[in-house]
Amino acid sequence: MIFRSLIATQDRWLFPTGLSWDAPRVRNSLDAPVANESPYAVIATTAPYSRADAVKLIRPRSWPRDAVRKYFRCQARREYEAAQQLAAWGIPSIPVHGWGVALAPRARYESMLLMTYQPGCQNARRYLEAQPDSVTQWRLLEAIAADVAAIYARGYHHNDCHLGNVLVDGTGNRTWIDNELRLIRNVKQLAHRFEQTLILLDRSLKQAVPAAMKQAFQARCRELLRQTQTGSR
Ligand SMILES: Nc1ncnc2c1ncn2[C@@H]1O[C@H](COP(=O)(O)OP(=O)(O)OP(=O)(O)O)[C@@H](O)[C@H]1O
Ligand SMILES: [Mg+2]
Repeated sequence: MIFRSLIATQDRWLFPTGLSWDAPRVRNSLDAPVANESPYAVIATTAPYSRADAVKLIRPRSWPRDAVRKYFRCQARREYEAAQQLAAWGIPSIPVHGWGVALAPRARYESMLLMTYQPGCQNARRYLEAQPDSVTQWRLLEAIAADVAAIYARGYHHNDCHLGNVLVDGTGNRTWIDNELRLIRNVKQLAHRFEQTLILLDRSLKQAVPAAMKQAFQARCRELLRQTQTGSR
């Protein structure tokens, strides 16, 4: 059975998270209405299944690395675990309901994440660009700075920490998506990763807010990290 799955050209999936998706549902999700398409992922909305009404279909990035790694820790699993970890720390993250991995090594999607669709959102940069009120802008940036500090204070690096991965709804509430966390035990390395993340955040802000606010945001991230680290000692 497993062997046949491995060599099958059609999509065969394994859902180890308890949320079993029947075969027609998987097939349907592969052709479901596309909400967003990027080089490495398709976000599709589906008929609700349990609480999941959206799937992220993830394409392999590099061959053969992803084809091998997916049998141990596929991308959807990493995102699923990171979203749950962030939620446990009180950081608003996308509700995730399960993940599946495509069994065939050459499958067109390596894995899929089942999640809740967040309607009426835009990413944090677009939200800030469209928001002329500097108090509202700063409120969001400060909340994001607190999230970032909380992650690094716990010794974790966020692999894709930029404003394109924070969804904001009409009332200014944020949701972290596309999460991947890595525990970094070496203090120097963690500090280096934190600096890289600050650069990524700064770049992803582009010109959405004035230069002074961009600087204040960087300073606030550093300050909150220092405070959190001192407080937890
Ligand atoms: N649960 C969701 N609800 C609503 N929109 C979503 C959801 N998940 C993803 N999106 C939309 O799809 C886009 C891409 O999702 P995601 O960041 O997870 O994939 P990605 O492969 O990293 O894409 P990109 O390279 O564009 O960042 C998001 O910027 C967002 O607009
Ligand atoms: Mg993304």
